[in-house]
Amino acid sequence: MLSGKHIIVGITGGIAAYKAAVLVRLLVRRGAEVQVLMTKAAKEFITPLTMATLSKRPILVENFNPENGAWNSHIDLGCWADAMIIAPATANTLAKMAGGIGDSLLLTTYLSARCPIAVAPAMDLDMMAHPATTQNLQTLAQRGVAIIEAESGELASGLSGKGRMAEPECIVEFIEGWIGRAQTLAGKRALVTAGATIEAIDPVRYITNHSTGKMGYAIASELAARGAEVKLISGRTQLACPKGVERIDVTSADEMYDACVAEWSKCDIGVMCAAVADYTPAEVSTTKIKKSDDDMCIRLRRTRDIAAELGANKGERILVGFALETDNEQANAESKLVRKNLDFVVMNSMQDKGACFGGDTNKISIITKEGTESFPLESKTQAAARIADKIENIITK
Ligand code: CTP
Repeated sequence: MLSGKHIIVGITGGIAAYKAAVLVRLLVRRGAEVQVLMTKAAKEFITPLTMATLSKRPILVENFNPENGAWNSHIDLGCWADAMIIAPATANTLAKMAGGIGDSLLLTTYLSARCPIAVAPAMDLDMMAHPATTQNLQTLAQRGVAIIEAESGELASGLSGKGRMAEPECIVEFIEGWIGRAQTLAGKRALVTAGATIEAIDPVRYITNHSTGKMGYAIASELAARGAEVKLISGRTQLACPKGVERIDVTSADEMYDACVAEWSKCDIGVMCAAVADYTPAEVSTTKIKKSDDDMCIRLRRTRDIAAELGANKGERILVGFALETDNEQANAESKLVRKNLDFVVMNSMQDKGACFGGDTNKISIITKEGTESFPLESKTQAAARIADKIENIITK
């Protein structure tokens, strides 16, 4: 599945560097072309000769060859790669990546790479649990770096805990699922809405909701990984744009409506995941509203329903909506299916633990005219894959 893929393996200076030899061997066996980059510290743990022999190419450490001045261009490397995986990634390298420091070829390549990037951290348990490391990993994850979690067990120090680099077989399995994906949606154009809209009351206050955009971003990422050309119309969120996705930022429900309507005629698939305000202030004060001793009332007007508008002009396209309900879940979701002319509704209930705003998990049911399929509590990435599978089923029907 990795045949012809260009993969950079970055090795940093930790005892788990010996496992990088197996990792490179497995990648080469699966048909990948591997370029190894090592930090100077990594050379103390595993020899360049070993890595060059296994990868079938000279490894690179410095920005240039001190003997003849030959330049190792981090830009060219970044453009060449289909993926970059840093394994093992030490606490030091993770901190530099999070801080944007480029004091090695490995780091400047990371900073200039356009491809998906993953790290497999490896360190002693206390370094792993240190707030600085935790925060650096969070920062990298928010910027779209995939984290291949360290495992728990006996560590080189003799202590036991979380910090062992994931086994090379697990890393390869991850890479295959990540970049070796079948391009089942190649040639399809998808529109995904995500995040919360913001409705201004005056220049200082606004009305919004708790949506973080995680589910919509996971769907955009999943569709792009399957080869679709994805436009993500995004309301407020803290998330980085997934690799391979084009994001259009909007603020209000009206702006999201206009952006979606403008794109719809060019699309084959629409997934309406945004938490769009159903009401917006009828008048927006241009100056800050001053308080008085009286109660106050804000008159709200209905916003236009994006999903319903796209549904009314659906043609042969596939349109998916969401229903987040607190009660009467099935009936409410079924009514949205019909009212908005959707192919299916992804329903989640606020009654279910772990299926609410902000978390990394969801518990979804997919509702079509034919019936309902319910799934267990799982990661939003897994839920996104189920939604993409359902879209593919409808396309191939
Ligand atoms: N939606 C939309 N445009 C709106 C409002 C909602 O596209 N102005 C989409 C959402 O992205 C979601 C679905 O419609 O896919 C949610 O349906 P909706 O009936 O609006 O649900 P609620 O906002 O929860 O409203 P209700 O009070 O009817 O439950």
